[in-house]
Amino acid sequence: MATIKEHCCGADAFFDHKRAVTQYADYLKKGPTKVTARMIQQLENQVIKDGTLLDIGGGIGALAWWFLEKNGARTTAVEASSAYLELAEKYATEQGWEAKARFIFGDFAGMHNDVPVADFVTLDKVVCCYPEYRSILQASCQKANGYLALSYPMDGFLSRIVAFFAGLKTRLKADDFKPYIHPVVKMRQLIKEQGFERVAHDLAFPWHVETYRRVDKAEAEAKAKAEESFN
Ligand SMILES: C[S@@+](CC[C@H](N)C(=O)[O-])C[C@H]1O[C@@H](n2cnc3c(N)ncnc32)[C@H](O)[C@@H]1O
Repeated sequence: MATIKEHCCGADAFFDHKRAVTQYADYLKKGPTKVTARMIQQLENQVIKDGTLLDIGGGIGALAWWFLEKNGARTTAVEASSAYLELAEKYATEQGWEAKARFIFGDFAGMHNDVPVADFVTLDKVVCCYPEYRSILQASCQKANGYLALSYPMDGFLSRIVAFFAGLKTRLKADDFKPYIHPVVKMRQLIKEQGFERVAHDLAFPWHVETYRRVDKAEAEAKAKAEESFN
């Protein structure tokens, strides 16, 4: 398994200028990708107006741009790829969103103490870039005042084979980066233990797309009591 430091240098090298420019051009032409669009659909019913978004590993910023178009107050992007961040910043400037969109370069799990909390926290195809799911998920949950939305790959045998060959390919090219398939049940359990309940789930094959809502402590206790009396 790669160390966290290798992972982040690897992400910066793998998500390079060429890849960023291609994704940026695709976004300008076609809008958000299938998985991102699914996440947007899940979040669309929530009150975005005047809310804040923390988009971890946001790439060229598709989720953040949607959020600001919906009258969100502010977005913060934490990105391990300097090339993606540069293009995201360029887009924000072109839209006149400099005062609303903040950009932080680095490994979110390593710097989360310096990152503000937000009403919405998103991790779109990001946990699978990270060697260790617990720390990044726990830190993400701590930052989410209201909703946490994430997408991650299915964890079956086929996914592991695909991830293995994808990792092999990057290693052959001397990249440090490789994708990770994490245990779905354990990730969901961890998010629940952090005080969230799942409010939406879709499968955009081979990605799970899920939204969780922070459950108020009193609400959680009342629910547990109701379940107890039902049993
Ligand atoms: C597969 S891309 C997805 C980009 C974007 N969310 C999307 O759906 O188009 C994963 C992104 O996560 C970033 N990333 C991976 N690990 C990260 C970490 N620990 N902290 C911040 N960004 C990270 C990578 O640099 C990359 O831009």
